Amino acid sequence: MAPKKIRKAVFPAAGLGTRFLPATKAIPKEMLCLVDKPLIQYGVEEAVAAGCTEIIIVTGRDKAAMEDHFDSSPELEYALAAKGKQKLLDSVHAVSKLAKIIYTRQAEPLGLGHAVLMAKEIVGDEPFCVLLPDDIVDAAVPCMKQMVEAFEQTGSSILASEVIEGPAISAYGVLDCAPDPRDPRLLDVKGMVEKPKLEDAPSNNAIIGRYILTPKIFEMIEQLTPGAGGELQLTDAIKALLQHEKVYGFHYEGKRHDAGDKLGFLKATVSLALKRQDLGPEFREWLKSFPIQ
Ligand code: UTP
Repeated sequence: MAPKKIRKAVFPAAGLGTRFLPATKAIPKEMLCLVDKPLIQYGVEEAVAAGCTEIIIVTGRDKAAMEDHFDSSPELEYALAAKGKQKLLDSVHAVSKLAKIIYTRQAEPLGLGHAVLMAKEIVGDEPFCVLLPDDIVDAAVPCMKQMVEAFEQTGSSILASEVIEGPAISAYGVLDCAPDPRDPRLLDVKGMVEKPKLEDAPSNNAIIGRYILTPKIFEMIEQLTPGAGGELQLTDAIKALLQHEKVYGFHYEGKRHDAGDKLGFLKATVSLALKRQDLGPEFREWLKSFPIQ
């Protein structure tokens, strides 16, 4: 039987964003901008390009900024139309027409697993994807689209994975896995370790913020015993899922930026700005002349 189609994408966006304080005191981290687009919009566009029609954003405090961003803005659109600013009008209008967006709330940031669980009723009994908005993947074929194609092949949960060399691996969930003979991009996952020391890492395949999950994951999250601070971790639930179903890692093609970290955010800004037709050439010239010691 062909696997069910992926129609729904969950965006956990209820974290405190402490690494960006004070910027994130009143603005959600997911609304910070790379060049001229908030982080969450990059992710929503990627999910839509992968065929998702329902976007579920898990918010905490300050959801108004996100709601307003994806809503229509008649006054702004009227003003832009009156000034003949058609291109800007189109860009503003397009954001509000991207997809059906549903908001659900996580009252307290009790971990990524808990945030995903908040979407249980809206997702229902079908496979779905999860995108962490602070991981930005710049790719010719959108990362989630590549993953949906892999899901169509396997019918199993898929975790996007990147090879990380050296001690930096300790910041990630790391896969214990073997190559899948069907497709060099697929990894047969046997286990995973959260933030291991370099010497304890089972491989150099780190999990990044893109997942396709079967609905069984909700049962697994509900059965977790909360860890430190009452948190429910998604990787613990995926580990439990492995006892029931196959799970694959997936080497996507593209460049990921960790925009949830200040240095990663700066690198993402420069990288995306250089690619822009309207800004890139002038920005490149300016960078070349910048007096780096
Ligand atoms: P992060 O750990 O990167 O986000 O979680 P954070 O906790 O907001 O950031 P810092 O570490 O304090 O700076 C990855 C994603 O998961 C969401 C976050 O909003 C972010 O998009 N998240 C995390 C939740 O929605 N709920 C949680 O309980 C935890």
